[in-house]
Amino acid sequence: MSGHVRHLYVHLPFCAHRCGYCDFVTVVGREGQHGRYVDALLAELELEHGLLAERLETVFLGGGTPTFTDGRELRRLLAALPSAAEVTVEANPETVTPALARLLRDAGVTRVSLGAQSFQPDLLRVLERRASPAVVRRAFYHLRDANFDNISLDLLHGIPGQSAAALAADIDEALALAPEHISYYELEAKQGTRFAHAHGAELVRQAEAMEGYFDLVVERLNAAGYRWYETANFCLAEADGRDLRAQHNLAYWLGRDYLGLGIGAVSTLGDQRRRNAPRLRAYLGSLAGREAPPREVEALDARTRAEERLMLGLRLDTGLPLSEARRSVDDDALGRVERLGLATLSADGNGRRTLVLTPRGRRLGGAVTVELLA
Ligand SMILES: C[S@@+](CC[C@H](N)C(=O)[O-])C[C@H]1O[C@@H](n2cnc3c(N)ncnc32)[C@H](O)[C@@H]1O
Ligand code: SF4
Repeated sequence: MSGHVRHLYVHLPFCAHRCGYCDFVTVVGREGQHGRYVDALLAELELEHGLLAERLETVFLGGGTPTFTDGRELRRLLAALPSAAEVTVEANPETVTPALARLLRDAGVTRVSLGAQSFQPDLLRVLERRASPAVVRRAFYHLRDANFDNISLDLLHGIPGQSAAALAADIDEALALAPEHISYYELEAKQGTRFAHAHGAELVRQAEAMEGYFDLVVERLNAAGYRWYETANFCLAEADGRDLRAQHNLAYWLGRDYLGLGIGAVSTLGDQRRRNAPRLRAYLGSLAGREAPPREVEALDARTRAEERLMLGLRLDTGLPLSEARRSVDDDALGRVERLGLATLSADGNGRRTLVLTPRGRRLGGAVTVELLA
């Protein structure tokens, strides 16, 4: 009997080098181990296969740098994974050649998320990125030449030294490429990282100066026809009816179940959350013996699930049904945020009452959720 999970995440941790600001589960180099890692992923898929529905909606290959993975191994992995309506691969610009773009396209990938971060050479250097602005643009064109009609750009604001003019220039560059989707993240410098150490003072100064910078991002992208559909995500509103929101991430924000494969990968399965240990050797060892990798399992009680549903649902411009919001907040709290002009109650397409943050509420983001949960 097949299972119910319709969203699959696959973690490919390998990177050519480690960027200073990065806090993801990554492994530098180890070209000799890419094949064994793909074997392990496929063994894990076999162990978990029963959880997956017959037809998947989304598959997402994230990293790390999935496109740094040895080409033959990447092709073998893509051929063995279940197909889905949306198959996304994260790519670093310097790895995107015409051959790589064709490989992805031929393997059934429908969407590429390209890690541009910035188009300013000095800021790319601060981030310790390997791709120059020209390489970022060239990667985008290679993907277009391979007929990708759903490309997302990842960009960062809050980079140490980033002026308002530099941010505006990045927005211009991104718009000139006309990607279907843009993720605009605020750079997070985790305490204790090499990056936070090197740029600490500048990051504090920056945090104050940057207030209002994100408004510029929202204004400019809205004016160019992009829908601000999630706190950090924008997509073109397509005239031919294609929904260009990131369907895989949308599943997370809507609280759907998903299965994660690979080191550090997270799965949410009903009232259970599992996190694979971020240890390559242990992962390879367990799966070589056809055993589940070491992982933490957390039970999600009803309250935690309701709070997560609220936190994630309020990130979306569609909000969440009032009936679901009420599981974690009371009428007083709802009244308070409404009176403050941070949220409104409206009816969705099916006439259900929906709690939606106002643009001001969405800019405050997590703070409104905290107010609701207090
Ligand atoms: C899983 S990461 C890696 C993607 C790819 N390896 C790359 O570097 O382009 C996906 C995206 O998360 C964002 N990201 C990574 N580190 C971040 C940080 N410290 N703060 C905010 N966003 C970050 C970047 O925009 C990045 O493109
Ligand atoms: S390439 Fe991407 S995943 Fe790898 S270290 Fe840099 S930011 Fe992190």
